[in-house]
Amino acid sequence: MQIITSVTEMQTLAHELRSKGQIIGLVPTMGALHEGHLSLIRLAAERADKVVVSIFVNPTQFAPSEDFNKYPRELEADVAKCESAGADYVFAPPADEVYPKGYSTYITEERVAKPLEGVSRPSHFRGVTTVVAKLFNMCRPDLAVFGQKDAQQVAVIQKMVADLNFTVDVVVAPTLREPDGLAMSSRNRYLTATQRTEALSISRALFKAREMVAAGERRSDRLIAEATHILSQQRRVRVIYVSLVDRLTMEPMRELEPGRGLIAIAAWVDEVRLIDNIVL
Ligand code: PAJ
Repeated sequence: MQIITSVTEMQTLAHELRSKGQIIGLVPTMGALHEGHLSLIRLAAERADKVVVSIFVNPTQFAPSEDFNKYPRELEADVAKCESAGADYVFAPPADEVYPKGYSTYITEERVAKPLEGVSRPSHFRGVTTVVAKLFNMCRPDLAVFGQKDAQQVAVIQKMVADLNFTVDVVVAPTLREPDGLAMSSRNRYLTATQRTEALSISRALFKAREMVAAGERRSDRLIAEATHILSQQRRVRVIYVSLVDRLTMEPMRELEPGRGLIAIAAWVDEVRLIDNIVL
């Protein structure tokens, strides 16, 4: 496995691979890799000839008040994990190569990015779409794998790819969970044992909604009320949103259309902001 840190080197490599007819699979990440990330790398390895994992803590998707500075950085351990999961290249460019002095071009998706995360993190997806478009131009992938864990991110990127005519196949991988249900996340490491126990109410609320749907419930107000009730029993949990939305547009659904709906939760567990969702 090779580590690439220069943008031009990455572009030259991508050009060479493509001219040889090799299918390039990209897995964009911010590092601090866990099994969820590794499942994306394994999926990319099944679908592509060469797998590039990008590791870049993207400053433009963090608001000034957010955890950019304390976001975990552990490149050496990440590189070993990428190799074990079947990556061929780790692409870890320095921030000043991605955003050189005077950088001034941004991509904004203006519809799907607006609700949910867009309300409390208004500049977040502008940073995500910008960096993902740049990574596409740097790595020239045929396919790119994203996790369902970040359902709105998937929807925003799919919309950007369609709207801007990128020829990248967006592959969506299922959410990997801890045995007790907690969705794996790089931010879980911020949680104390007590906070982690309370954070479990998020997946519990989602699973309860799934049970209700299996029993025939279709009304979003009832599903949301029950999920909110479960979260409200935890002292350290503060709900940011609980929503039933169309999984492609992120628009609210009053009545669930099975297969198209998504129940999404964002919550603070003390100072740790967590998100999770399930497709219904
Ligand atoms: P990051 O949070 O590092 O996540 C990288 C990828 O791993 C994303 O596609 C995310 O959805 C996926 N992922 C995270 N937890 C997962 C889990 N438990 N199961 C399955 N997949 C999981 O998302 C980002 O980075 C950034 O916004 C990025 C796309 C790299 C742009 O900077």
